[in-house]
Amino acid sequence: MKISVINGPNLNLLGQREPELYGRLSLARIEADLKDLADELGVEVGFFQSNSEGALVTAVQEADREAEGIILNAAAYTHTSVALLDAILACRVPVVEVHLTNPLAREDFRRRSFLAQACAGTISGFGAESYSLALLWFSRRKNEGSGA
Ligand code: DQA
Repeated sequence: MKISVINGPNLNLLGQREPELYGRLSLARIEADLKDLADELGVEVGFFQSNSEGALVTAVQEADREAEGIILNAAAYTHTSVALLDAILACRVPVVEVHLTNPLAREDFRRRSFLAQACAGTISGFGAESYSLALLWFSRRKNEGSGA
């Protein structure tokens, strides 16, 4: 099973960007830790990050063709992007929305996700562990052979 992990704008700056909110781990480190977990679980993972909305739409479309699930932190586009919502609605594979922080506990404009309605679920507020929890869900779902 392959899972694509897609990260949106400004997440390339993790580690330096508002570390009190987003933590001190770089995106490269988060991806390396996730790869270790994926190896333990016997899951293949691929990684993509872009600051551009169109590139993220294309990445979701490609992941839908090549992977069996998508872990998506669309960052600020979560709160604005009809284009990403439409890309997720067109997906055959489940998409799990993740966030490092809990957007529901932050500014009003972060409380609305355009994407959540089209996702299998959302995992927010656990820092880098949000990605690990999403990967565990995919792995367990595969092992149970369920369509949960
Ligand atoms: C974020 C939350 C978003 O509101 C914000 O724009 C981000 C990061 C998170 O992971 O907590 O860039 O997606």
